Amino acid sequence: MMLVLGIESSCDETGLALYSDEGLLAHALYSQIDTHKLFGGVVPELASRDHIKYLVPLFDEVLKEAKIELKDIDAVAYTAGPGLVGALLTGATFAKSLAYALGIPSIAIHHLEAHILAAKLDDPQLEFPFVALLVSGGHTQLIEARELGAYSILGDTLDDAVGEAFDKTAKLMGISYPGGAMLAKLADSWQGDYAHKWYPASFPRPMLDRPGLNFSFSGLKTHALNVWQKSAQDDNARAAIAHAFQQAVIETLSVKCQRALSQTKISRLVVAGGVGANLFLRKVLHESMSNSNATVYFPKMQFCTDNGAMIAYAGYLYMKQNKKDSGLDIQVKSRWPLTSNL
Ligand code: KG4
Ligand code: ZN
Repeated sequence: MMLVLGIESSCDETGLALYSDEGLLAHALYSQIDTHKLFGGVVPELASRDHIKYLVPLFDEVLKEAKIELKDIDAVAYTAGPGLVGALLTGATFAKSLAYALGIPSIAIHHLEAHILAAKLDDPQLEFPFVALLVSGGHTQLIEARELGAYSILGDTLDDAVGEAFDKTAKLMGISYPGGAMLAKLADSWQGDYAHKWYPASFPRPMLDRPGLNFSFSGLKTHALNVWQKSAQDDNARAAIAHAFQQAVIETLSVKCQRALSQTKISRLVVAGGVGANLFLRKVLHESMSNSNATVYFPKMQFCTDNGAMIAYAGYLYMKQNKKDSGLDIQVKSRWPLTSNL
């Protein structure tokens, strides 16, 4: 029996979870959105303070939910980066102290690797190799995942990340932070008809006319701003622009995913990160992958955004491979490429 505690504290969610041979036993999450909303974005120092406040209560909560005792835990996995350095330090310090006190290993986990593995949480059948589309507020990457710990970057954004473009586009139309999910909801709810109700001319599909797997989303955001300024700036315009923006983004992502699969001759696509919760992305990728005999895997909605379950699971997989203890030094990395060691 192997039982791993996972701790996520890289940004504005405190997440703890317990994963064992029997699967996910418990998970608890505290989202700091209300703390940061007032400021229109994450305030690093406030994030660290909130993590400190919630780590212990959430730890108690998962122990209780899983009905286990401290001595049952075999290892503590924690997010060591990338992320906000103060926020990372709170989770890492908690993890190391607990591991030291219990005499068990602590395992440093790469936040993005954990995101990539989140789809496997509910579908352990999903095997390497696969192509991962990592789409979050900070990242937009196509990654070839050969095996645990062995990744290469196939494509990256040259400017804004997809989630960031969703958030910024929402903001410029007066939708409050973090507006990405709200923008998507508006886009899906748009009832207009392209010919009759006001609808902005089609948005550009950035970088599709060029070979390669890189992305660029800042131009789309500027395009949205121009269209918004010329519109009536009412609810209909907001929804219509959200719709046109989302269409352009998702179509671009889908075409690049197809290209990545044909380039690598891999037939499994795994979606990871907060934008993986986008319903239109799910629909379009399901359709386009089934047309090309590939399969697409998504994490459960609740595990697309930051959470402790993906960290516990990544730690569990590494423990099964006898990964060594990351030592007593409290080491975190705010910037940490997926392709390099801690
Ligand atoms: O992975 P995540 O929780 O945090 C990091 O960035 O690490 O992703 C958050 C991002 C935000 O930019 C948010 O606006 C976006 O994911 N997001 C969405 C949706 N839900 C969350 N973007 C588009 N459609 C959604 N339904
Ligand atoms: Zn994340």
